[in-house]
Amino acid sequence: MNTPLTARERFNCAAKCQKVDRPPMWLMRQAGRALPEYRKLKETYTFVQLVQNPELAVEVTLQPVRRFGFDAAILFSDILVIPEAMGQTYHFKETGGVQMDFAIRSQADIEKLSVDRVVERLNYVDSALRILRRELGNNTALLGFTGSPWTLATFMMEGASVPKYSRALQLFREAPQTYYLLAEKLTAAVTAYLRMQMATGIDALQIFDSHGGHLAATEFQEASGRWTNEVIANLGGKVPVINFSLGTHGNWPDLIRSGAQVIGIDWQTSLAEVRDIIPPHIALQGNLSPTMLAESTPEIVAAETQKTLEIMRGRPGHIFNLGHGLTPGAKLENITALVETVKSFK
Ligand code: CP3
Repeated sequence: MNTPLTARERFNCAAKCQKVDRPPMWLMRQAGRALPEYRKLKETYTFVQLVQNPELAVEVTLQPVRRFGFDAAILFSDILVIPEAMGQTYHFKETGGVQMDFAIRSQADIEKLSVDRVVERLNYVDSALRILRRELGNNTALLGFTGSPWTLATFMMEGASVPKYSRALQLFREAPQTYYLLAEKLTAAVTAYLRMQMATGIDALQIFDSHGGHLAATEFQEASGRWTNEVIANLGGKVPVINFSLGTHGNWPDLIRSGAQVIGIDWQTSLAEVRDIIPPHIALQGNLSPTMLAESTPEIVAAETQKTLEIMRGRPGHIFNLGHGLTPGAKLENITALVETVKSFK
């Protein structure tokens, strides 16, 4: 009899489009406030304290893995650590959302951002990933991540999470050369940061282009895709990259050419259609609707999870995930139903 795969092996094989016993799974935003054990820590520490203390970040990273047995752990951190390391400090507002100390308003503000000290300032991420690699060993895959240059720019230009991200769009359209200056700096910072993450022994990393869909299909490549592709090329294929670009399903040719080994599929995209469009050497990740975990029942979650698995049946290279991040209202019994369904899929 063959020895069963470890979760880490299952994840790594699926990312390379090799056959596995069942799809590996993890959930975007699995670490965090859907979990009572996370909320308990939040009574003592602020969000930024949890992010910046390696031992605490390790603990929050492991909480969902312990509870649900996911095949991959994703580092507990935030995409906004990059702007912070470049000089734009942020905090999490307990009323919801994030707030930076200032917004990028001019070319002079962009020029003041520093790329040189990013790796040094994010040393706490290096420490957390090294502890995690040791603790997880060969049992569970370990994922690093970053925001895409475009998505980071949208936050940096507003200086906060806001209902409508208009300032980066405006800069890109009205003063593209100034936008390119920012995008170039972010591409350099993200590349350095990901190289540091790769050196700790992570199995894969995800690029969150959560605001890619704010762009028109005609401008996506120039404002976002191009910079993400440059980051991926800079990494030299040493670990698989998961390219998750939310709301950009009009841009498959661009995403296929991005150089990523895995493409993240959002929940509004038909997985059945994508299965036939994406070449077989690229793995697909997704794509249950996150609201399914908050606004429904375990029976419905099990049925919808099963549907998603069936759509991908026989297509090597499926990593089960949501189509975007877990929301605070996700019910624990619904997450359990999802996990049980994926684990028993044959
Ligand atoms: O996936 C994981 O579990 C790893 C941890 C993780 C967090 N943020 C923790 C977090 C990851 C991968 C992120 C990425 C992130 N951060 C993105 C891209 C993913 C996405 O959902 O689109 C974005 C846009 C951010 C920026 C950010 N961080 C915002 C806008 C906010 C406030 C709004 C919100 O969703 O709560 C955060 C805070 C944040 N980041 C929390 C967590 C667990 C909530 C903190 C809390 O409630 O204590």
